[in-house]
Amino acid sequence: MCGIVGYIGQRAADSVLLDGLKRLEYRGYDSAGVALLDPDYSSDIQIVRRTGRVANLSDALKPGTNKSRMGISHTRWATHGDVTEVNAHPHSSSDGRFAMVHNGVIENHTSMRRFLESKGFVFKSQTDTEALVNLIAYHYDKETVQEPEKRFYEAVRKSLFHVEGTYGIAVVCKDCPDTLIGARRGSPLIVGVGKGEHLLASDVNAIASRTTNVIYLNDGEIALLNKDNFAISTTSDEGVEAVIHTVDWDTTDAELGNFSHFMEKEIFEQPQALQNGMRGRFADDGSTAMFGGLNLSPSELRLIDRIVFIGCGTAWHAGLVAEYLIERFARIPVEVEYASEFRYRNAPLDKNTLVVAMSQSGETIDTLAALREAKRKGYKTLAINNSVGSSIAREADGGIYQHAGPEIGVASTKAFTSQVMLAAMLALYLGRIRDLSYSDGAAMVEAFKSLPDLVSRTLTCAESIRKIAAKYSQYNDFLFLGRQEMFPIALEGALKLKEISYIHAEGYPAAEMKHGPIALICEECPSVFLATNGEIFQKTLANIQEIKARKGKVICILTENCDMPDDLVDDSVIVPEAHEAIQPILMSIPVQLLSYYIALERGCDVDKPRNLAKSVTVE
Ligand code: G6P
Repeated sequence: MCGIVGYIGQRAADSVLLDGLKRLEYRGYDSAGVALLDPDYSSDIQIVRRTGRVANLSDALKPGTNKSRMGISHTRWATHGDVTEVNAHPHSSSDGRFAMVHNGVIENHTSMRRFLESKGFVFKSQTDTEALVNLIAYHYDKETVQEPEKRFYEAVRKSLFHVEGTYGIAVVCKDCPDTLIGARRGSPLIVGVGKGEHLLASDVNAIASRTTNVIYLNDGEIALLNKDNFAISTTSDEGVEAVIHTVDWDTTDAELGNFSHFMEKEIFEQPQALQNGMRGRFADDGSTAMFGGLNLSPSELRLIDRIVFIGCGTAWHAGLVAEYLIERFARIPVEVEYASEFRYRNAPLDKNTLVVAMSQSGETIDTLAALREAKRKGYKTLAINNSVGSSIAREADGGIYQHAGPEIGVASTKAFTSQVMLAAMLALYLGRIRDLSYSDGAAMVEAFKSLPDLVSRTLTCAESIRKIAAKYSQYNDFLFLGRQEMFPIALEGALKLKEISYIHAEGYPAAEMKHGPIALICEECPSVFLATNGEIFQKTLANIQEIKARKGKVICILTENCDMPDDLVDDSVIVPEAHEAIQPILMSIPVQLLSYYIALERGCDVDKPRNLAKSVTVE
């Protein structure tokens, strides 16, 4: 979703900003722009915006030709107004004195705009952002303080008081070419602290190549940055003691290396991502997991009699797998809710309920709001999250970091399997403080330890999946079917295919097929079955037979010891058979690869699918 990069320092601002914007491209966007300030006060703020890729903006800007040492920039994902150059950020005030970039939604922008128009302000775009930058100009004119920097700060601060909605902003003022201001409420913003330079960004990834010292702004905070110093305060003008964190970020993690796409890279680095997520998390007795950041003692956790997982998209699917695993191994009832529904539903929760927010980015606005709602009601909350220092990680009472490394591809892959693994390890931990026996716990620990190797083995099916993808890439409808833990994997398989291939796909519990989807079955609608060995294999087989009887094509992803009759399915992929706590992870790999190779066959932009954003920071 929208990205922000701001810079003040000694280097060429245009190059720094473009580099940051390129590193944010993965978040999804439809236009990009930059505002640069002249260090000699001699000309107006220079604003360059382009629709489409950052490369278009770079061509227009010709980096290196501008002497500016400070500016702001943005990648926009349209919410208010069409995808046009006029609607792209930065937006300027009608007197040209201010330029601003903004993430979030200003809900009362219409009334703000009406008020400002009545005062003679002229609007050029359809965006909510333009209302706020003009409001800043309005307060600047009214401000009695004369010193430009203080006046600029007061104008921003007073304007933010009037905002209903969310914002992460970076603002510059023509009168203050040595000052950059940022502020946040509901949309992430961090300050990068360098030597003789400061940065603002919506995402660590944008600035990690320049500095690993960052300050995570909290809601209601304003950062005032000069080249050599910074000050953080609240919108009520109280000083804030900022904590500088060192981010553990290897910038090569966010580079493609020998892979063609980030999605491909992230699929193939799953053995390592999973290994990193389990490192140091098994107890010495070899029968349970342990987590350093739960902030809940075993006796507190024993009192929990219900768990609610909240999340969106792929993270919601990971929650569904968690439901099966926690209920099976820890015998605690689990529910899984879309965060966007939970936050408004006012669901009655028992007093001993634990709410777990599942989020790769830690910034998804619905998940964050649902977490806040749960906290407001006094529930204990945890987060399973891949972004150290993210809003969700900071606001939950405790949590488990995924340590899966940055996920750049919009379609989540390694973050999903890592969430499933950590949920399974949480099931083990909760089970062992209840009724799960030592030997059952030890068997699970052994299974987790074998997981990276099993995933590597599963990945060797890539070539055969590529051939299957070539055969089926022209179909426009798919069903994904599975039972029990394989049902969420079916949902995830359908989502992956939709996201990056634009093929209509639906996931169902295999037996539900008879209650509607079976009407779709024909030669033009293939079904992908997820079949594991065990007590319900025969039932799955019966579902496959029902599809074959209606001339439906079947691709079957099955575990190695399944007794599949010869020639029943059209194509099959064999996955190693494993402990049921980790089998869903192994079964996820072929569905990820299938959607990846089908998207390639169809010539789709795998890492930047149309209309999608990596981190959805607006409602
Ligand atoms: C977007 C992304 C999905 C992701 C979902 C939740 O829709 O495109 O890949 O699953 O957001 O994101 P989160 O960061 O909260 O896991």
